[in-house]
Amino acid sequence: MSIKVWDYLEEYRARRDEILAAVDRVFQSGRLILGPHVRQFEEAFAAYCGARHGIGVDNGTNALTLSLRALGVAPGSEVITVPNTAVPTVAAIVNAGGIPRFVDIDRETYLMDAGQLEAATTERTACVVPVHLFGQCVDMAAVHRIATRRGVRVLEDCAQSHGASQDGRRCGSLAEIAAFSFYPTKTLGAYGDGGIVLTGDDGLDARVRRLRFYGMEGFGTGDPGVREAKLAYSALEHGYNARLDEVQAAILLVKMAHLDADIARRQTIATRYDDALTHTSIVRPRTRPGNTHVYHLYVCRHPERDRILSEMAERGVLLNVSYPRPIHLMPAYEALGYREGSFPEAERAAREIFSLPMYPSLTEAEQETVCRALGAVLGETVAV
Ligand SMILES: Cc1ncc(COP(=O)(O)O)c(C=O)c1O
Repeated sequence: MSIKVWDYLEEYRARRDEILAAVDRVFQSGRLILGPHVRQFEEAFAAYCGARHGIGVDNGTNALTLSLRALGVAPGSEVITVPNTAVPTVAAIVNAGGIPRFVDIDRETYLMDAGQLEAATTERTACVVPVHLFGQCVDMAAVHRIATRRGVRVLEDCAQSHGASQDGRRCGSLAEIAAFSFYPTKTLGAYGDGGIVLTGDDGLDARVRRLRFYGMEGFGTGDPGVREAKLAYSALEHGYNARLDEVQAAILLVKMAHLDADIARRQTIATRYDDALTHTSIVRPRTRPGNTHVYHLYVCRHPERDRILSEMAERGVLLNVSYPRPIHLMPAYEALGYREGSFPEAERAAREIFSLPMYPSLTEAEQETVCRALGAVLGETVAV
């Protein structure tokens, strides 16, 4: 049996009728872009996360870019994040005109070490982007303490944390603005690209809405077939085409109804991995106090990571690494001036972490196969 890192086909088989009916409703509606499905999804997802406004966009990278622009990040502004994130977190900072600066991560959770923010903040720092990586939240109380003291804005990167909460509040409502991705592998994934910006601020809502539509106001709500809607055709600022389309919004509405059940499945799978691997040398994921972990990924650590990966692959089990190279050591970001040794914890995580197969349709039998193979590769006893 070969086990993939991620798979959506089982889900599609189970929900095919619902998904195809939703797509057909869009095609029959006469509205393909920024119609009622986008609006309904924006409201539903914002409400789910406890935010006032949602603005559907075309992907998570642009959700970040537009949020940064709305917060006033301008050429020359510094934006602080972590080097062990997906490239788009950093690409979005550059796209918005900002200069990425990094702080290291916490050894146990692989999340931003907020204790390092103070020292990284300069008079040019405009914003900090805590990344809620792998399915749990950064210590937001600590982030806000420093951000408030230093007059820095806060943008949550929630691309890997749909449904995760801290002290009883869901991410997406833990700062003034938040960006999500609905890339297919995400905990809530579209059948193509998608993203959303959430905010509780009316001004930020209006700004992101206009940035997503070429910098124009009042667009994206009217029917493009109605001539009157076009009379106000004028851009107020330089913007983007960053719209979420109706088909993806309709599919996301279908999938949102299953989100809590999907997260519960992930948590069950994580508990089973935890139990099976208790007496092995693998370092299992650690949940921060106050956090509810949604296990977007089940991330483990082991000094012999590369050997484990290749021997597991020989046994038909593919494991994933997020991320094998920290961003400060990538050629694209050399000019930022960091070097090997700048962020020892992020560099160590890049060498040692890997994730086990994790998706709601992963079966108990498949999980047992993964754990047995791990036991054999480690030469240790797993409890399955
Ligand atoms: C942490 C993080 N931020 C941002 C993104 C960007 O999302 P997208 O791929 O939808 O542009 C991703 C996903 O790839 C991500 O994992």
